[in-house]
Amino acid sequence: MSLIAAGEPRQKFTIASLREKKFHHQPITCLTAYDYPSARLVDEAAVDMVLVGDSLAQAVLGHDNTLSVTMEEMLHHTRAARRGVKHALLVGDMPFGSYQVDAAEAVRNAARFVKEAGAEVVKVEGGEKRADLIRRIIDAEIPVAGHIGLTPQSVNVMGGYKVQGKSLSGVEQLMRDATALDRAGVAFIVLEGIPREVAALITAEVQTPTIGIGAGPDCDGQVLVIHDVLNLTFGPPAKFVHRYGDMKALIANAIQAFRDDVAGRRYPTDEESYHLPKETRTALETVLERKQAMRR
Ligand code: KIV
Repeated sequence: MSLIAAGEPRQKFTIASLREKKFHHQPITCLTAYDYPSARLVDEAAVDMVLVGDSLAQAVLGHDNTLSVTMEEMLHHTRAARRGVKHALLVGDMPFGSYQVDAAEAVRNAARFVKEAGAEVVKVEGGEKRADLIRRIIDAEIPVAGHIGLTPQSVNVMGGYKVQGKSLSGVEQLMRDATALDRAGVAFIVLEGIPREVAALITAEVQTPTIGIGAGPDCDGQVLVIHDVLNLTFGPPAKFVHRYGDMKALIANAIQAFRDDVAGRRYPTDEESYHLPKETRTALETVLERKQAMRR
């Protein structure tokens, strides 16, 4: 087993690495990132995949859901993340409306993620009903990731963010969705908001690596939204969210300290200021003295 520690030399993570990791039962790691510094930090921590998720809408742009984020916004942030990623696999999330309407437009939009933003994989939500579209995108030489279960772009159809696959018919539908994506040849399948038992069944059934979020520990890998991991969100966290740091407190304390220092005239200090060269300073003092003498 070759688990790579952060800081060690690392090979580029590819879609072939995903299958290899599943085969060797090595957990696959993925975090979202939406800009250069966070993507760079995630990459340098040896996380396998960076997902520029459409959760950009809530995490960064302050929207209530993912529905309003545009292709241009997704491309803009994917480009920024691209500059920070060297080894991880960069995945771009296709936003709502960019692939549901027309297959030719979907392929064009997927190609924009690759060509204009440097994504290596694009992710679309939906199972069985997306299989033909996914084949068309893959035919255009673009790797695709699937996403089933609680699919946030279907929030209005689901009637809220609800755990999916709790009934027998729900489990059967999820199995059909996973199998359809597996057959279509996706690079990985995100399993979001489904019972642990169902995620375990799917993971055992399909050849494709499964990446869970709110789907329990038996998936082939795990993904979280980086703002959840860092406590940089403003609402109550979902049950599955694990806070690994408290950026909100760190940022709030730093901002408060800056404000207090400026208000109390403790910032900037003389050491934090630029100074005139000695000769200029002497010359300036002479000019000022002359001016003052003339005023007397
Ligand atoms: O947009 C996103 O962040 C996602 C993950 C939750 C998988 O799709």
